[in-house]
Amino acid sequence: MKQDLKQAVEFSHSILTEQLQAGANVIDATVGNGNDTEFLAELVGAEGQVWGFDIQSQAIETTKDKLAESELLERVTLIQVGHQKLGQYISAEIDGILFNLGYLPGADKEVTTTVETTLQAVKAGLERLVEGGVMVIVIYTGHQAGKEEAEALLEYAQGLNYKEYNVLHYHFINQASKPPEALVIKKRG
Ligand SMILES: C[S@@+](CC[C@H](N)C(=O)[O-])C[C@H]1O[C@@H](n2cnc3c(N)ncnc32)[C@H](O)[C@@H]1O
Repeated sequence: MKQDLKQAVEFSHSILTEQLQAGANVIDATVGNGNDTEFLAELVGAEGQVWGFDIQSQAIETTKDKLAESELLERVTLIQVGHQKLGQYISAEIDGILFNLGYLPGADKEVTTTVETTLQAVKAGLERLVEGGVMVIVIYTGHQAGKEEAEALLEYAQGLNYKEYNVLHYHFINQASKPPEALVIKKRG
């Protein structure tokens, strides 16, 4: 049987797999439990580099252990700093950026990404993105901060010049619950 339509996180991975090549420089803007970081580290291969940001030490430590276990730590730099400051930590040109917004599952829900810092980080990330590079943002609209992020991000992304960026909004529109959505911003080459 053919598979179901992809949920947003799975979709974000499939877009990045399609768009990035081995040796790519990528950012995981929200490390969390490290599932996305591990995925990105595998995707870019031994010649690639991943920078991972999170404000919580729990996220950084969990992810460090996970990457050490899968022998991927060498290609990843974990930074315990808000992603809105990424421009101060990365001078390299970046091929791909992933945001998986919201709070760390199983931890304090109050420690969540916020509309102001997310917008700052997205703008800083786009400045670092190479032509042909791609940013994917997974947004959870089931909580207040996520709803605000979705509104602000959509407004911002819709305003991006189509000559410079292609923007795609991926969301299910007939569900009872509010499944996560994805925003893809591709810098045209
Ligand atoms: C949904 S989780 C990320 C899930 C993760 N990518 C994974 O694979 O498990 C969101 C993460 O964003 C982090 N976060 C919140 N504000 C942040 C900020 N300003 N900069 C970087 N990370 C932030 C939270 O601490 C949390 O770990």
